[in-house]
Amino acid sequence: MAEPRPRVWVSQPLYADIEARLDEWFEVTRTPRITDHAPDAIAAALADADGALVTLNDRIGAAEVAGAKRLCAVANVGVGYNNLDVDALAARGIVATNTPGVLTETTADFGFALMMAAARRITEAEHWLRAGRWQGWGFHQLLGAEIHGSTLGILGMGRIGQGIARRARGFGMRVLYHNRNRLPEAVERDCAAAWLEREALFAEADHLVLVLPYTPANHHIVDAAALARMKPTATLTSIARGGLIDEDALADALQAGRLAAAGLDVFEGEPAVNPRLLACRNVVLTPHIASASLPTRRAMVSLAVDNLVAAMGFGPDAGRPPSLVTPPTAT
Ligand code: GLV
Repeated sequence: MAEPRPRVWVSQPLYADIEARLDEWFEVTRTPRITDHAPDAIAAALADADGALVTLNDRIGAAEVAGAKRLCAVANVGVGYNNLDVDALAARGIVATNTPGVLTETTADFGFALMMAAARRITEAEHWLRAGRWQGWGFHQLLGAEIHGSTLGILGMGRIGQGIARRARGFGMRVLYHNRNRLPEAVERDCAAAWLEREALFAEADHLVLVLPYTPANHHIVDAAALARMKPTATLTSIARGGLIDEDALADALQAGRLAAAGLDVFEGEPAVNPRLLACRNVVLTPHIASASLPTRRAMVSLAVDNLVAAMGFGPDAGRPPSLVTPPTAT
């Protein structure tokens, strides 16, 4: 009798043509509709699986893998992987992978756009216009902050941070960054970016963009004290993860005029958004869409499939998944 094929659980419907590559190697259990899986449902699905293809909404930790005796690989469709407890998986010998690289440029485009929208008050202006408040062109209406010639601060200078830095060059911005590890000189030169201590970055930036991974060590790294270091004319943009910003402290600063504006694509309790932020006119709010273009989302799924196949010992990269995850480090 033929060996039974390994079983793979796909937690969400993704792209059928790309997912179909899994069928060559595995018995695949699919999820027909977008589903907010409860922890018990994830545990039940994993209990029967050798591998899993999951997204950022699926939280997998010690409890979810406790009964997953056969599970050997979890492929995350996403570059951030704070939905996975990597240490708990590693303790069980389960390999985790993510999807870096393929979303870098799309996400950097969006980060730059969100920063510009906050600085130039684009959504605020649109809401104002739609509310019928525009009575005629006004010299003093909706004045925003300059982008060109200003100082961009980037906290977290991985691939996406570097992509944002390269875009800033075209706008004639001075680029400063902080990263736990300073980049090699050649990369700094390529990005025309200079390293700075974190506190100094907060104080110097006209526009600060967060692109660092979330870890418990950098929970609320942007707190009231950090915000107090920023210029009152500055903007803060985050395309990283909720949990990095103390959202109540941010709402205080925005309401009190101690910070000009913010652009947020990620939220601590997403999809719930802090009602105090919803009430602020000077914040641009988007629903975690920085990598959301069709070609990029397809590339993410494709890489996740390659990772899973390789991590489970099949295909051309058997045993060498292209993007193995290592525990994230705080910046
Ligand atoms: C999106 O947030 C990702 O981490 O890919």
